[in-house]
Parts: sequence; structure tokens; C-alpha cells
Amino acid sequence: MCGIVGYIGKQQAGPVLLDGLKKLEYRGYDSAGIAVYDEFAKKTEIVKAKGRLSALVEKTDGGKSLKGTCGIGHTRWATHGEPSELNAHPHFSDDGKVVAVHNGIIENYAELKQKLLNKGYEFYSQTDTEIATKLICYYYEKYGNDPVTAMERFILRTRGSYAIAVMFYDFPREIYVARKDSPMIIGVSDGEAFLASDVPAILKYTRNVYYIGDREIARLTDGGVTFYNVDREVIQKELVEIKWDAEAAEKGGYEHFMMKEICEQPKVVKDTINCAVKDGKVDFSEIGVTDEQLKAFKQVYIIGCGSAYHVGMVALYVMEKLARVPTRVELASEFRYRSPLIDENTLVVVISQSGETADSLAALREAKKLGATTLAIVNVVGSSIARDADFVFYTKAGPEISVATTKAYSTQLIACYLLAIKMARVNGSIDETRENELIAELTTIPDKISELLKDEREIQQFANVVAAKSNVFFVGRGEDYAVCMEGSLKLKEISYIHSEAYAAGELKHGTISLIEEGTLVIGVLTQDELYEKTISNMVETKSRGALIMGVTVKGRENVESTADITVYVPKTDPLFTASLAVVPLQLLAYYVSAYKGYDVDKPRNLAKSVTVE
Ligand code: M6R
Repeated sequence: MCGIVGYIGKQQAGPVLLDGLKKLEYRGYDSAGIAVYDEFAKKTEIVKAKGRLSALVEKTDGGKSLKGTCGIGHTRWATHGEPSELNAHPHFSDDGKVVAVHNGIIENYAELKQKLLNKGYEFYSQTDTEIATKLICYYYEKYGNDPVTAMERFILRTRGSYAIAVMFYDFPREIYVARKDSPMIIGVSDGEAFLASDVPAILKYTRNVYYIGDREIARLTDGGVTFYNVDREVIQKELVEIKWDAEAAEKGGYEHFMMKEICEQPKVVKDTINCAVKDGKVDFSEIGVTDEQLKAFKQVYIIGCGSAYHVGMVALYVMEKLARVPTRVELASEFRYRSPLIDENTLVVVISQSGETADSLAALREAKKLGATTLAIVNVVGSSIARDADFVFYTKAGPEISVATTKAYSTQLIACYLLAIKMARVNGSIDETRENELIAELTTIPDKISELLKDEREIQQFANVVAAKSNVFFVGRGEDYAVCMEGSLKLKEISYIHSEAYAAGELKHGTISLIEEGTLVIGVLTQDELYEKTISNMVETKSRGALIMGVTVKGRENVESTADITVYVPKTDPLFTASLAVVPLQLLAYYVSAYKGYDVDKPRNLAKSVTVE
């Protein structure tokens, strides 16, 4: 979604702000703007542009036309009001003395706007951010021109989510920040301070960051930060070192981040296994949840959105097969509003790459309210979901930039397999020998993914055929059905081809009427006991004219009597085949999008992290 950056230091702020915004482009946006305070002219200059960041870069000569060493910047993803220069941030008070950028949604904006209209304020844009800016201005003037009090009043008066950065004209070398349910980090280095809504924006400059908590205020000065709680008391924060290296957030010679991230999967999968497997056993001591606690759970709920939900679908099969614990998987946006039957005997696992997805965060809080124990499987250290959960399993995917997730999905699968093995062991549904076997097999997955990545030419060629289709159906059973859901989402989100994933047994209950000459059906068949069944369903579509692609395990060459093109994945334990079968589907989606000339990493209308409901 929207991106925020801020800078105070010795460098010219404009280029630093644009550089940071560039690193946040992947989050999705439709306009951008920066504000820089010019110490000599004693004025704050604001420049905005609709469309790509390059328009703002051009307008400001790469940021150099704005003089000054303190500023804030924003990429906007429209929520209130159309994408336009007027609605773009920064917004400012009528006298220009308060300037702000904001991510999130102020839910009670209408009531606040009315209050300000009654006080004589005027509004020019359709945004809730202009209201937030003028509200802060109102409190600033009302409470003795004190920025901390103005921020405190803002926190107390607003409902919704926000990460907001504000410059006050009377405090020219300071930036004030507040947040609630929307990400924001603050970085410091020698004589400089940075703020950003996501790590990649500041990695080039510093790895030392503070996480500002919900309903807290930060005051940034040259190289220093002071934090306040909502009672305006100074609070102490721990400086955290970000381990991700700056290069991980660069393309490193690849044409797109998505391909780079697909290729990183062997490494990040291995890293994720290594962080929770010690001496050949699943070891959750770093996570902190004990065997006794795990043993006590009577049911497991797995919650996520989009691809994270699809990971949960795979995990549902694996968890019930291995650990024999009743497991449900649910979309966070549904779970949060339907009064689920959970209690203190329930483990709720929330899966999220960003750790900031609004629905997943709300679902986690709902689960806690109902008494469940929560375990977050999260990639971004210090994110809201990680901070709110009782326990955290950090995946080791590193920064994922492409909007379409690949490597984070793969590491989330690993975390779920390890959780299922651990629960199976503590429940006694598997013995030590089976645990050893499973762990030994799991450690072969990275090499098997590498093997698959070497053999992608056929998929690349087939992408031209797929690019011409307007409908694609993915079918499979069991774990394969879960993989189909992910393959279908990957294809639709970046290639804009309509696609559906069906449990193969459901075809006859309606969908088969859509099959006509040339319709592409992609069958995933990695589960031994379900292979014949799915083949029968594929034959049914073939006899109605479908073009068939099969994804199956090496040794199943007889699939070729049905499929027009087949991709083979290496053999592994059937519980883990999702980790392999998904790779050709990721590659296919990538090549179709690239063939069509689309913006692979930044598909239309999408954002990397969905921090609003
Ligand atoms: O950051 P999260 O894992 O919570 O994000 C969840 C979904 O928004 C995300 O997986 C989305 O579906 C991806 N674009 C899929 O590629």
C-alpha cells in the first residue's frame, strides 16, 4: 500500500527521499510527493506528481531542486479520493505550517471533518489525510504550539489505522511520527535519522532501527529519536539491528524481483529449515512454545489472506495427516467477523509475510480476545503481527519485493511442516524414526527445488500458449488442490488471465460446463492415492476439447497419454510435494506475465502489503 519516508541529516533530503520511495515502489501506488524544509529560504517546498515516481523525479531533478536537509515523502495508493495531484501527499494546513504524510485509514474522518469545518477550516482534497493534518494543526494551535501534545490529541481523537509523519514549521529540524496498526520504523546513523514504512527504504543508509509501537509518538532530530507514550511520558526503546543485507533488496542482475525471488527459494527454504531443526530434530526453543503447551491444544486454526491462506490449505492436510489434531483453515477477513468457536484449548496460527496485513492482524487480536494461544508465522521482524502474537516463527525469506509472493510462500510451507511434525511428535502420532525420516526428507527439498529451476525451458516456451488463453482451470485433490489455489492466484494476479482452482472431484458439479475446445486445464497430480482419480477428471475435460498440462512426480510418465505437456517434479514424501509442485506454476505465471509485457513485480491495482481492510 502507501509508502512513507522521512529524513533529517547532513545530506540534501530530496534525493534521499526519492531513493527511499523508489525502494517502496513495489508496495503499489498511484501518485507521489515530497516536502523539504529549506533552512535558508525558511520555507517548506512541496512537490507532487500523479502516476509513476519517475514523474516526481523528473519534476524535482531527482530531488535536487528542493533545497534543505529535512523532509518527508510518500507514495499514495488511493483509498479516499481518486489518484490525483490534489489528493497526493504531503498535505498541509491552511497556513502551510503543518505538513504531513499518512498511511492507513482514519475511520471517523467524517466526524472530524465536520468538527474542523465548524472551526473554519477548509478542505480541498478528498483525503482523510488532509483532515488528519488539519486536526493536528488545530490541536497544535490550541495546546500552546506543542507538537507532542498535538500528536497525543490526534492519537486520542482518531479511530482507524495510521502511520503519520509530520513537520511543524516552528520546529524545522524535527519530524514527528505516530502510528497505530500501520507499519513504521525509525533508523538512525551518525547525525542522521530516517523513517520508513518498510525496511528496504532505509537499508542502504542504516541497519539500526527502532520499532515505534501502537499509539506511540516519536520525535526525530539529527541522529536522535525520543519516544513518548500517549501520556506524553518519555519511553525507552531498544535499538534493533536489521540482519537483511541491502543487496537482498536489489535485483542483482535479474530482470524482475519475482524471478530473483523464485531462484532464491532453495537458499531461503534451507535457512528456514535450519532455524528450527537442531541435531536432526524440530527444535522450537527459540520460538518459546513448549511441548506441554503444544500437547494441550485440542484444535488448530490456521488463518491468513491470499497466498498465506493457501499455505494454510496445504498445512491443513499435513497437520491432520501427521498430528491428527482437528485443523481448520480460514480467511482472516471471514474469521474476524464470525464469532468462531475457539477457546484456550485452541492454537491459532496466523501466517503473514509482511506481518502487517490488516485482516490478519485483526483476526489475531480476535483470537487472543477469545482466549486462544496465537503463533505467528511471519517474515518481517518486528512487524505488528509478530509483536502481538504469543509466539513467533520467523521465516527466513529475507526481503520480498515482488507483489506476487514466491519465496515467502515456500518458507511458510516449511514452517507449517515443522509445526505439524513437532505436534505429531508431542502427541505421539509419529515416533522418533518417522520424525527422523521426515526431517531427512525435508532437508532434501532445497536441492530438489534447485533441480526444478534448472529445467524451466519447456515452461518458458509453453507460456506463449498460455498467454493467448482467457480462461485457465487448475485441478487437483488433497494437497494438490491447495497448490492449484496458489498456482491460479499467481497466474491471475500478474498475467490478468482469469483462472480458477477446483478440487478435481468438483468439476462434474458445475465447472465442466465451461470446458470447450482449447480451454487450458492444468492438473496437479503428486499424491499417489489420488493420482488415478485426478487423471480420470482430466480425461473428462480432454474429451470435451481441453488442452491439458500435467504437473506430476517423476516416474508417472503414463500421464503423457492424457496431458499435452507435462512437468515432472522430483520424488519426495507426499506430505511435502507442495513445495515442489508450486515451483513450475510460479515459473509459468512469471513467463506469461513477462511474455505479455506486463509489470511483473508491480501488477495493476495490487499492493505488497494490504494494511487496510
Ligand atoms: O503479507 P501477507 O502474507 O499477510 O499478505 C497476504 C496476501 O496479501 C498476499 O499473500 C497476496 O495474496 C500476494 N499478492 C499473493 O502473491
